[in-house]
Amino acid sequence: MRKEVGPISNLIPESVIEEVKARNELVSVVEQYVHLDRKSGSNYFGLCPFHGEKTPSFSVSPPKQIYYCFGCHKGGDVIHFIMDIEKCSYPQAIRLLAERAGVAIPEPDDEAWRQRHEKQKALQNICLEAARQFYRNLMAAAGQPARQYIQRRALASSVCRKFGLGYALEEWNGLLRHLNQLGFTDEELLLQSGLFRRGKSGGLYDLFRHRLMFPIFDAMGRIIAFGGRVLDDSQPKYINSPETPLYTKGRHLYALNVAKSSKKDQMVIVEGYMDAIALHQAGVDNAVASLGTALTENQAQLLRKYTEQVVIAYDADAAGQAATLRSLETLSQRGLKVTVLQVPDAKDPDEFIRLHGPERFHALIDKSLPLLDYKLAVARRNSISQGAVDPLAYQDEACQILAREENAIVRELYATRLAEEIHASTESVLQEIERRLGASSGESARPAARTHLDRPGTDQELPESTSRESLSREELYVLTLLAAEPSLAEEARITAEDFSPGPVRTLAESALPRARDGTLDLSVLIELCADLTVRDYPLHDLVARVSMRLDELFGQNLRQGAAEQLWRLRKQRLRQQLETLQRQYQEQTDEAGRSRLKQDILALTRRLTELKQKPDWQS
Ligand code: UTP
Ligand code: MN
Repeated sequence: MRKEVGPISNLIPESVIEEVKARNELVSVVEQYVHLDRKSGSNYFGLCPFHGEKTPSFSVSPPKQIYYCFGCHKGGDVIHFIMDIEKCSYPQAIRLLAERAGVAIPEPDDEAWRQRHEKQKALQNICLEAARQFYRNLMAAAGQPARQYIQRRALASSVCRKFGLGYALEEWNGLLRHLNQLGFTDEELLLQSGLFRRGKSGGLYDLFRHRLMFPIFDAMGRIIAFGGRVLDDSQPKYINSPETPLYTKGRHLYALNVAKSSKKDQMVIVEGYMDAIALHQAGVDNAVASLGTALTENQAQLLRKYTEQVVIAYDADAAGQAATLRSLETLSQRGLKVTVLQVPDAKDPDEFIRLHGPERFHALIDKSLPLLDYKLAVARRNSISQGAVDPLAYQDEACQILAREENAIVRELYATRLAEEIHASTESVLQEIERRLGASSGESARPAARTHLDRPGTDQELPESTSRESLSREELYVLTLLAAEPSLAEEARITAEDFSPGPVRTLAESALPRARDGTLDLSVLIELCADLTVRDYPLHDLVARVSMRLDELFGQNLRQGAAEQLWRLRKQRLRQQLETLQRQYQEQTDEAGRSRLKQDILALTRRLTELKQKPDWQS
């Protein structure tokens, strides 16, 4: 049933999910986060927790058990609300709500799953106990050198506590002995925690010794790995946990567990542990570290869950700048808006703050360069020879960069600026860009333009026509009306084939049977949307939006509305099919094939003419 939502929730029975929803009334859950005051009709309104606003556009409908923000277009049921506000996954949201309402979630009886789950729990406990011990070491007499180091780096004790910093003793098995005492004696398990190695004599020894310890948390705040820094200039500077069942490199972002609660609408990415911590200490509470050089695909995807706007603040050295360029690509491919912060007169953000103070760093964030400006700045720097910019080299790289920009107006604006810099005319710069555009148009150098569905504003902006990856306004209306009046499914003989192939049809396939057996309502429909998306836009947001506006759109007569929408929908599908057939007909050279297609076209045309007259069913 719930195929789309991932392995863990598969194992939470449908009935439990329903009980969790029943026991968590939406208004009472929302009110833990949002002050709902104004009431209009049966809806409550409050200030949206998902975007900054001064007048309330966040609405909650108690009868529908659905919320929707008319400002930022987020919407869904109680589970989506928790996912959005706690920034957690679907199964995590269910567990959270289950806990809140005291609903027991049965452990799945799948043996393999149970074993994996138990091992993960045990490894989490080992990491947690290790972090506690490192912290105790730091506070104890033996922690003196590490405390001195922290002082030298000017870290306040409050941030050290917030990030759980600790100290690994200068001993071969200080941690091992401690964990043994706590009852962790299974050597295989201890090895899998990544905290130990097996020596030549066969025994285990501590991986981290005499180092300042940084626990690495996942987004939910569980410790999954560690990094350890030397207290002097020896090498290697950092040792990090190897990959373990809990930790995959490049899948996490350091400090995200803290940064995710920031009120700012962007995230700042830095390279290192120390940069992230220094930024948080300086009040930049939205800083995360990628802990390596360039950002991975996975990390970009993770970020996308929390923000749309990213500032890259990597080290000033060549490696940092190269990583910046690669990360820029990764992030913008994921649809994130990126700007680049360049740190002047210091090797990294941490050092900059120590030299110039937090205020100057905040100013750097505000002055961070948009993608194109940054690329042009790099091109300019690259073309410096003998202390001066070589205009020929610069214009070559710069025009190449601008030719990749999809917006003609933006191209022109930058061309004007470039022309001034190199003392050429805007016309000739534009001409040069156009020439390169022509040369590269075949290889689709530019990404496809995004559709208005990415951020629908009004219903007028929902697409009129259907294509494979899309859905039409009518399709959305029919499904939502069906959930409000499930009896329509039988009467109207709606089938999944009425919907265009892709996510909407998938939704129709699971919703129609439930309409027929009488278990569909708006909130179930929203559940069935699971993580279906149409061009990155969550389907549940769209369904929530229409649900909230049903009365306004269709008045009291939902049946009449449904009849009309279904009629339009079918007409639309027939027209599409007709177009496809006509295209095939034109391309078909074989006589037999042509005559078969002609028959089909005639049949379809007839059905379309019949349909044109009036809705084929009414209340
Ligand atoms: P940096 O050398 O910039 O470290 O490496 P840093 O965080 O600024 O530390 P300080 O200021 O010198 O104390 C950036 C990141 O690259 C990884 C670490 O995650 C580090 O935070 N790194 C660096 C390693 O894993 N191993 C190393 O030996 C060096
Ligand atoms: Mn540093």
